[in-house]
Amino acid sequence: MRATAIAQPNIALIKYWGKRDSDRNLPAVGSLSVTLGSIGTRTTVEFDAALDSDRVHINEQEVESVDRRVEKCLDRFREKAAIAHKAVVTTANDFPTGAGLASSASGFAALVVAADRALDLNLGEDELVDIARTGSGSAPRSLYGGFVLLENDSDDGIRCGSVLGPETWPWSIIIAVTSEAPKKVSSTDGMELSRTTSPYFSRWVETHDADLRAAVASIEDRDFEKLGELAERNCLKMHAVAMTSRPPLLYWSGATLECAQNIRELRKSGVPVFFSIDAGPQLKAFCLPDNSEEVRDSLESVPGVLRVISSELGEGARIVE
Ligand code: DP6
Repeated sequence: MRATAIAQPNIALIKYWGKRDSDRNLPAVGSLSVTLGSIGTRTTVEFDAALDSDRVHINEQEVESVDRRVEKCLDRFREKAAIAHKAVVTTANDFPTGAGLASSASGFAALVVAADRALDLNLGEDELVDIARTGSGSAPRSLYGGFVLLENDSDDGIRCGSVLGPETWPWSIIIAVTSEAPKKVSSTDGMELSRTTSPYFSRWVETHDADLRAAVASIEDRDFEKLGELAERNCLKMHAVAMTSRPPLLYWSGATLECAQNIRELRKSGVPVFFSIDAGPQLKAFCLPDNSEEVRDSLESVPGVLRVISSELGEGARIVE
């Protein structure tokens, strides 16, 4: 009743920000992401009849109170297997946890894949997507590799799958880490605040589908420039919604903005590159492999950048043990 899985974080090019149903964690908008190849989460799940409660260890430390979302995910597996066994979940990230590097996405993706195997359930992809989504709205995207689309479906749920595998259109992703500290306002709280207080939230939702469709079309056409333009603007739209929430959410630091300007300058000088920023101060730059060294060097030179992580596109979540 034990299995280990690895999942990689993903970064959205067209963002998920806001829920249409907070209790069921259903997103207000679809999203499009790339799965990373070089950093990841490794999670072991072991169900054990002798335990009286679920236990979670993150990065070698037992957490005091287990996240309700983890228990909810485990409950779904217990229901499917018709058992009451509690579980020990041991998880480790090889990158900063909770700092806007999508640790919840890779964490929940690894958890569902490992739990499914630990109980030998062999659930279908749709069920794994649905359980991962109850943990974190961005987690289903880490079940898949390459370019991944998550959409609301007509049955009041979501569907998720790969648009293009990681080998078909190789990219480089360069992450400028400007802080290793956990973010002050979680994505979950931030997007709820935006939904209830930002005057721009309804326009964000109304205009989102057009961004998503255009981005999928530019992946199909392998149009890097067009996709970059769409993604950078969509990211800034998301932050405009966050910044106009009450109280305003400002996820950037001075170094984040310096990095953004650096990428724009680089693009002006002829390098095809664009950036995205999530609910934390790290900046993610996207380019083609031929330009990755140049982009890396450029971000490394920005004051306030602590370190730079480079990645290619990666695979979806998978069992390793
Ligand atoms: C800014 O998936 O962490 O990274 O569903 O509440 O767990 P919950 O939110 P989460 O939100 C991710 C928000 C984002 C944009 C994105 O990844 O699409």
